[in-house]
Amino acid sequence: MKDLFGQALLDFQKGEFTEDIITSTNISDDDILPISYLFRDFKDMPKLEQKAIKLVKGSILDVGCGAGSHSLYLQEKGFQLKSIDISKGAIEVCKLRGLKNVEVKNILNETETFDTILLLMNGTGIFQELSQVSKYLTHLKSLLNPQGQILIDSSDIKYMYEDDDGGFWIDAHANYYGELDYFLSYKGEKETPMKWLYLDFDTLKLACETIGLSCELILEGDHFDYLAKLSLP
Ligand SMILES: C[S@@+](CC[C@H](N)C(=O)[O-])C[C@H]1O[C@@H](n2cnc3c(N)ncnc32)[C@H](O)[C@@H]1O
Repeated sequence: MKDLFGQALLDFQKGEFTEDIITSTNISDDDILPISYLFRDFKDMPKLEQKAIKLVKGSILDVGCGAGSHSLYLQEKGFQLKSIDISKGAIEVCKLRGLKNVEVKNILNETETFDTILLLMNGTGIFQELSQVSKYLTHLKSLLNPQGQILIDSSDIKYMYEDDDGGFWIDAHANYYGELDYFLSYKGEKETPMKWLYLDFDTLKLACETIGLSCELILEGDHFDYLAKLSLP
């Protein structure tokens, strides 16, 4: 990974912004990801994220914290918080923004336990593929204190396969339709392609039940997106 995402965040943080990130997937064309969006404050967060933030309790792990926007808000509210990301640039930005407990770390290498684990802005993305969901969920479960909760958002992207006459062109023999190849470029440089997983709620719930987690639908967004709460039964 070249960490172009982290580089873009760092440029923005240092006041050296010149252009946004360009993303695309195997089923969608180029799209702009405004870097300023990664620096959003509470009032500019989607309602699913605001709801997640209102539900947090106890000690918190912010997984894939990016520029640390959720973490900063929670730190200011006085919560005990740890924020991790695999992007070195993102973690440097979090430090520059004043986050106190941050670490470059893959969630699979985390070992502490928490009362609330946050995975926001399509939190299921980091699972990458349907075949890895159990592994990630089992690990996340092992990081929960008794009475703990995992707050995670995602979308059912079936709508992306809808054609003009309302039919769907999903290939029944292909992989799960929420598994995307994700491409990112910044300042003309291309990041190593990544896998990024969108999970519909029913598939997430089934995966949770299979590994012994309860899965509750907390809130639906305006565009096939949702917030779920996972907990020990
Ligand atoms: C879509 S961004 C979301 C950033 C932030 N949560 C937000 O809402 O602004 C996803 C983040 O997850 C990080 N990430 C991806 N896989 C990860 C993993 N296995 N462990 C920790 N962080 C990961 C990426 O580097 C990226 O910063």
